[in-house]
Amino acid sequence: MLQVKKSRMLCLFALTSTIFLVSCDDDDDEYSSTSPPSLDTQLQSVINDQELSGDPSIGRQIPDINTPVAQLGKKLFFTKSLGGDTDSACVSCHHPALGGGDDLSLSIGTGATLPDHLGPGRTHSSAAPNFDGGPTVPRNAPTTLNCALWDQVMFHDGRVESLGKTPNTSGNDGQGIRTPDSKLGVADPQSGLDLTAAQLRFPVTSQEEMRGFDFEAGNSNDDVRNALVRRLVDQSIPNTWLLEFQQAFDSSENAASLITFANIAEAINAYERSQLFVNNPWKKYVEGDQTALSDAAKKGALLFFQSIEEGGANCVECHQGDFFTDEQFHVLAIPQIGRGKGDGETGDHDFGRFRETQNSPDKYAFRTPSLLNVEVTGPYGHDGAYLSLEEVVRHNLNVEEAINRYDFTLSQLDAGIQHEHAEENTRAALAQLQTNRANGLTPVIQDVDLSDEQVTYLVEFLLALTDPCVKDRDCLAPWIADTDDAGPDSLQLNAVDEQGMLR
Ligand code: HEC
Ligand code: HEC
Repeated sequence: MLQVKKSRMLCLFALTSTIFLVSCDDDDDEYSSTSPPSLDTQLQSVINDQELSGDPSIGRQIPDINTPVAQLGKKLFFTKSLGGDTDSACVSCHHPALGGGDDLSLSIGTGATLPDHLGPGRTHSSAAPNFDGGPTVPRNAPTTLNCALWDQVMFHDGRVESLGKTPNTSGNDGQGIRTPDSKLGVADPQSGLDLTAAQLRFPVTSQEEMRGFDFEAGNSNDDVRNALVRRLVDQSIPNTWLLEFQQAFDSSENAASLITFANIAEAINAYERSQLFVNNPWKKYVEGDQTALSDAAKKGALLFFQSIEEGGANCVECHQGDFFTDEQFHVLAIPQIGRGKGDGETGDHDFGRFRETQNSPDKYAFRTPSLLNVEVTGPYGHDGAYLSLEEVVRHNLNVEEAINRYDFTLSQLDAGIQHEHAEENTRAALAQLQTNRANGLTPVIQDVDLSDEQVTYLVEFLLALTDPCVKDRDCLAPWIADTDDAGPDSLQLNAVDEQGMLR
């Protein structure tokens, strides 16, 4: 009898406690008559089931930031010479000290009021040729941190895509890479070897990001790339960039043969891919240090990994593996804000993956982001509609409620973001989600009922995915161009914040 009572008490405990700890069957497992399994025991079984190592870089080639080629790549990443109007650089939207992003909901590239001012308060100049009152880029800048870990697709809509998708190869598996310069499913002969090499060919061709509206107007992407190469070659008289390229490639060849788009791409690629930041408390924990996580983070981890039937939130259904993403596309109906991508009747929708596939369940679907370092990569969602982790987590737990709560005046976001059709477009995305649910599409985001305390546990777990280096300016120094210097062309972007302080 005593046995049964104990078991009932455990059931009661399981129902009232914040996490589902034990099975309620009287006769089933070894725990029913003893104390519930510890958090560590439960997590260990999740780690085994999911075959996690904690280290998503195992088996990969990651360049060292201190190699000469990666150091040249850093200088190229930080120079406004690669911006058509010399007012925008890669770093404008991907600064290591801003989590590898720009800390804005929607990026501002060309035509900024103060090109070197990055982060909150950056505005689009009213004197810029395309100014219409708001940011010009329709999507949030994803982090470049850990960009070497993507194997299948890049961009929120996957328009750069590995055709082979071989794990641990970053697309470098000999099967080719599709880019916006080729059709869906067709390899771009110029893509370069891996996904990041293919991706980096495009920001310089985007009018809003780097090219500007007058530079090589009406000409092809390749014309833009060639014109930029000519600019760097010209800047090499007397020597500036040439010396840098000679050093990096250990060569004495002349500017015309060394300063090519292929070499520019190789250098930027080495720089970007060296941004590996995976040494977080969760990794330590998975590797065996049980003290690396707080109890709250452990409870959050269980909620993250356990199924809804087990009392969890099943986040792992999409945020899979050590990189926390399935690299697939899902409709989450994160509020649609900003100018959109020209889709829909009003032209301010962003149809996401549907733009590439024309497959209706893909309408408003976006790629599952990695959650490594998510603490520093906000604002969140493909358009930065949420400023805090708690808000985006709550959205994922109940989409409709979150949309009903959302402030569609957008006064909480950066100035000038278009809101005219934001609510209407968001409801269209929600309708697509409901259609996908009704059609039994899987995986699909589900409503999960968690307590406020459980939401804080989930957030604690997400905070345990931060590599401390990404919050430490000194630790990041090797990836940031020397701010005492103006670079080989005097066009280095030394980022300042709203107060004019160097970043
Ligand atoms: C004006 C801001 C801006 C500039 C400048 C810019 N980017 Fe981006 N970057 C973005 C945005 C926004 C996206 C996402 C676009 C999308 O998904 O449609 C992106 C996507 C990326 C990605 C894909 C990341 C992922 O997770 O898929 C990489 C890598 C990247 N940029 C690197 C670069 C490099 C290299 C340069 C310079 C050659 C550069 N960016 C210049 C804003 C910018
Ligand atoms: C059905 C797949 C799916 C499930 C389940 C899911 N997510 Fe996501 N998650 C996504 C996608 C897709 C996005 C990006 C949506 C967008 O950009 O519009 C995302 C975005 C996020 C973001 C924002 C990250 C960023 O960089 O913008 C966080 C944080 C997040 N999810 C956490 C969670 C948590 C916690 C859970 C469990 C409660 C969860 N997700 C469940 C697919 C999923």
